[in-house]
Amino acid sequence: MNRDLALNLVRVTEAAALRAAKFLGRGDKNAADQAAVDGMRHMFDTVHINGVVVIGEGEMDEAPMLYIGEKIGCEDKDAPEVDIAVDPLDGTNLIAKGRPNAISVVAMAPRGCLLHAPDMYMDKIAVGPAAKGKVDINAPLEENLKNVAKALNKDISDLTVTMLDRPRHEETIERIRRLGARIKLFSDGDVGAAIAAGFEHTGVDILLGIGGAPEGVIAAVAMKCLGGDFQGRLVPYSEEERERCRKMGIEDTDKVLYLDDLVKGDEAFFAATGVSDGELLKGVVTYGHNRSRTHSVIMRAETGTIRFIEAIHQLDRKPGYAL
Ligand code: FBP
Repeated sequence: MNRDLALNLVRVTEAAALRAAKFLGRGDKNAADQAAVDGMRHMFDTVHINGVVVIGEGEMDEAPMLYIGEKIGCEDKDAPEVDIAVDPLDGTNLIAKGRPNAISVVAMAPRGCLLHAPDMYMDKIAVGPAAKGKVDINAPLEENLKNVAKALNKDISDLTVTMLDRPRHEETIERIRRLGARIKLFSDGDVGAAIAAGFEHTGVDILLGIGGAPEGVIAAVAMKCLGGDFQGRLVPYSEEERERCRKMGIEDTDKVLYLDDLVKGDEAFFAATGVSDGELLKGVVTYGHNRSRTHSVIMRAETGTIRFIEAIHQLDRKPGYAL
């Protein structure tokens, strides 16, 4: 895939973030999500790809835009055929409540390279490059924490684990505390939390726990670009969910999904723009005179290049970016 596509992907997440940020703290998560979807969908028309949404806003009958199977991109038959995974607003509740850490994200890989993860839960473990190869989702928690601490040359008491603050994690939280590691709980947005584990300066060493499976695939692309590690296991809670896995070609739901199962090959891209201020990315700032500032990251798996892009947008000259 042409490396210049990276900049176009950032345009897509910027457009979503700029629109979603208008809903910061307004208490309406659906309106915020819709605004992000509109901005992202509109901007995709300008990207030189033949894209198919493999992870999106839901099935065709549930979502009018960015639904699974929707064809997006320009209509040039010579454009590269790609899979697209989107989360126009990861952290809809965060934006509704005016809280930090909401981001807009997109992942892209050649056609057939992204796992078509069903909309259900996934158990996840993510670490940055220094601990790659040192975790195993099947191993006891104690072993994983010891191995990560050793790889990072830290005491377990200096290790920071991040997890969604959910009752389903209570037992694991207790075990982590007994081992003496520190825990950073967050209320929503586990794509951003996984990525934070990929950057040493965030102080987050490992993401653990159950979150959305679609978000897992997107985070896996980021971890592949960063040279980190990500493993997942689907957690179907009903026979209907198990059937959905089978229909999507996933027969054994206990199977560990390694990085290469979630995203094949090394030709993937990942882009994210902060909507509200976060660990890694600053949120959208609205200046006067129709200007706004965004802060984004774009990564490419093939080369491992990570670019942070700060942009000031003159919104009245860019109809796709403004509401
Ligand atoms: P939305 O932005 O779609 O609401 O998702 C937020 C999120 O926190 C994800 O990042 C995470 O994977 C999932 O929800 C966790 O699900 P649940 O809230 O059911 O525990």
